[in-house]
Amino acid sequence: MKAMADTAYGWFAAVQNQLGISVLKEIIVCVAILLVVFWKRKKIRKHLPPRPFKIPIVGHLPFLGKEPFRGLHKLTKKYGNVYGIYLGGNYCVILGDYKAVKEAFSKSTTTDRPDVAFDQVPDGVGFSGVNGQEWVEQRQYCLRAMKHLGIGRDSWETHVQTEVEDFVRKVSMYDGRPFDFSKLLTASIANNIGSYVFGNRLPMSKENIEFLNQCVDSSSQFSAQVGLRISFPFLSDVLIALGLTKYATYKKHIEQFNKFIREQVELHKKNTVEENPDNFIDGYLMKIRENQEQNLGNTFNYTNMYGNIQAIFIGASDTTKTSLSWLLLAMASDIEIQKRVHEEIVTVLGREGKIQWSDRHSLPYTYAVIMEGQRWMTIAPINTSRIAMEDIKICGYDVPKGTIILANNWGLHNDTKYWKDPEKFQPERFLLEDGEKVNLKPESYVPFSYGKRNCPGEVIAMMEMLLYFVALIQKFTVLPPKGKLPRMQGTLGLTYHPVPQELRFVLRE
Ligand code: HEM
Repeated sequence: MKAMADTAYGWFAAVQNQLGISVLKEIIVCVAILLVVFWKRKKIRKHLPPRPFKIPIVGHLPFLGKEPFRGLHKLTKKYGNVYGIYLGGNYCVILGDYKAVKEAFSKSTTTDRPDVAFDQVPDGVGFSGVNGQEWVEQRQYCLRAMKHLGIGRDSWETHVQTEVEDFVRKVSMYDGRPFDFSKLLTASIANNIGSYVFGNRLPMSKENIEFLNQCVDSSSQFSAQVGLRISFPFLSDVLIALGLTKYATYKKHIEQFNKFIREQVELHKKNTVEENPDNFIDGYLMKIRENQEQNLGNTFNYTNMYGNIQAIFIGASDTTKTSLSWLLLAMASDIEIQKRVHEEIVTVLGREGKIQWSDRHSLPYTYAVIMEGQRWMTIAPINTSRIAMEDIKICGYDVPKGTIILANNWGLHNDTKYWKDPEKFQPERFLLEDGEKVNLKPESYVPFSYGKRNCPGEVIAMMEMLLYFVALIQKFTVLPPKGKLPRMQGTLGLTYHPVPQELRFVLRE
């Protein structure tokens, strides 16, 4: 021991002689600073959310399965409501319960989206994808423009009713024979918003129905939030460029849709409108002209216009038709619930009465069925990703700046703390008192997400779903093809679509 101390002293004295006392002091100070920094970092790391074992390079991706929201929910049970995973090299924090989502999404430092959310989408997704002041400016404008056009209001309701009547007529033409209802539904729902965005609806020809379905389905599939894209963005770009993945086909469909949008814009540019535009494109063109002529330097430009059109059109069509499709499948698989909905509709509206949005208050059971449909099959099971804009805390854990934040909406809707037997379709969960009122804001219920960057289309979607659903159940008994059961399997993109299948719509006596 003494020999060791002598050696160390000898070495110290030798270094002192070589460098001089002042240099040595500086070295000691530097080492001390490094130690403090290291210690502090270690202290921060101590509060990082727990993280399961990961495989090098791929991270946790292989553990999540085909339907990652289920895998993530299992991990919540083991690791708690906030935990970290790696998707490839990307560190992500998962919000697994209502407490975590509420706390995280109430912060103004979680509203940004990471680049990997939508940067692969040709022509972008407008205010759905941009951040900061640009997001504020574009979102505010788009919501005001939609309100101004009457979307989600009385005139919109009349417009949707006409589209619903047309849809019901087309369904009647199948005369109770099975058909893939969801294709027709996509086109009908897309036309509701399309008329306001483009100023005219697309006639329901076979080609248009196919085109609208391709645009809507491919947009959803292409923007899956958990998968190859988020884990290995470069590899996914290469595979798409080489045409080696189904994403190449999705991209091609989105490009065709972008071409359609650009052509529509060119048509509108030919008829300059100076005031009171009756569609989104004319209004946005006015904003671009104002920006250019007055040199305002704001974010109104063609890129944002193309992206906003895509966001509003796809955002409104894919989600609403997917929710309605699951709801109709649920009705086809539970005839008792369907019977009760029908009885309520006939009591309130009769066999021919036209449904209006204001009737929802008199149709509590029906409204509860629609709400339960959105819980039971969460169509945005993993919320569109967000990013920590600075170092933040969530439920006591440190989440470093730049971390991708993924909320497991499906997990919230299947959390047994809030929902008994969550796998069962039970509309009564949403009924209050003696079944006369609906609990519109239950805890752990986030189909439209939570906080400042939640979905801006909630009322629009709920109105559409009520009008379509009531009109269909009023007229038809919805059944699976003879000898079959509805298939409750889905495909996950940005939203969770039921696998294509047929239903029968049998005219009621
Ligand atoms: C059943 C129907 C719908 C469901 C379940 C749904 C769900 C969602 C969810 C979960 C988000 C992610 C929000 C977040 O990041 O936290 C979202 C965003 C969005 N939704 Fe919806 N949505 C529906 C209908 C609509 C409709 C009708 C529109 C039409 C205006 C729409 C337009 C959008 C847009 C533009 C965003 C991006 C918002 C932003 O980034 O600021 N959605 N939606």
